[in-house]
Amino acid sequence: MYKILKAEKLADKIFLMDVHAPRVASHCQPGQFVIVKMDDKGERIPLTICDYDREAGTITIVFQEVGASTIRMADLKEGDSFRDFVGPLGCPSEFVHEDLEELKKKKIVFVAGGVGAAPVYPQVKWLHAHGIEADVILGAKTKDMVILEKELEAVAGNLYVTTDDGSYGRSGMVTATLEDLVSKEGKTYDSCVAIGPMIMMKFVCLLTKKLEIPTIVSMNPIMVDGTGMCGACRLQVGDEIKFACVDGPEFDGHLVDFDQAMKRSRMYKTEEGRAILKLQE
Ligand code: FES
Repeated sequence: MYKILKAEKLADKIFLMDVHAPRVASHCQPGQFVIVKMDDKGERIPLTICDYDREAGTITIVFQEVGASTIRMADLKEGDSFRDFVGPLGCPSEFVHEDLEELKKKKIVFVAGGVGAAPVYPQVKWLHAHGIEADVILGAKTKDMVILEKELEAVAGNLYVTTDDGSYGRSGMVTATLEDLVSKEGKTYDSCVAIGPMIMMKFVCLLTKKLEIPTIVSMNPIMVDGTGMCGACRLQVGDEIKFACVDGPEFDGHLVDFDQAMKRSRMYKTEEGRAILKLQE
């Protein structure tokens, strides 16, 4: 059993939990994910790792209520436990293996949308710990939906908060801020990491293609079982077929076919859609 040491509501339908899982905490790297199961009959839920404390043996997860399982999960309190907490899974972020001196020469911008702030945080924190200050654009629909602002502020070079309705920070989509930073404010970036809703990642990639900034995206949103067996996370990446849970979750965003991925993930939401996909495979 994996005990919940802290349970906190960050925003409407968004929750944070610290879970005691020393083995996962001792091995995990930024970019990886875990699979949690509440009980024997519970659904397997893949969640990206938001933070880890190797000494305390804890993993921080952040999740959004999106279906029956995550609604049940949101009811768990401090002192409750998960039946399974499997990880770390997936490949760590590419930069973890890059030459540190080369990495230090790069200017990196992260674009985090909604709960995408959760997987972005450990990456920016890792870079900060290695002497690299990345810029972060943190976007949300409204002021109330902005999460992890304080945490990101502590580790980012510059943090730009944007809200779609202009209720806090800059007004408009994350893409407008990125475009302004590069086109009007003279910023240059060698690489971009965009994590958030698929539609956001698609439009960030369209922009960064135009701006010629290589871009990594994290395809967590399309995972279902997280084990390479259900096929839900199948992706077209350039001329290759990849599975987000075993080959990713991070990919070259300029090669990902987002329209196909969004169509597949919509189909996976219904029984009928899943049956159609089975026929196509
Ligand atoms: Fe099921 Fe990847 S999430 S195969």
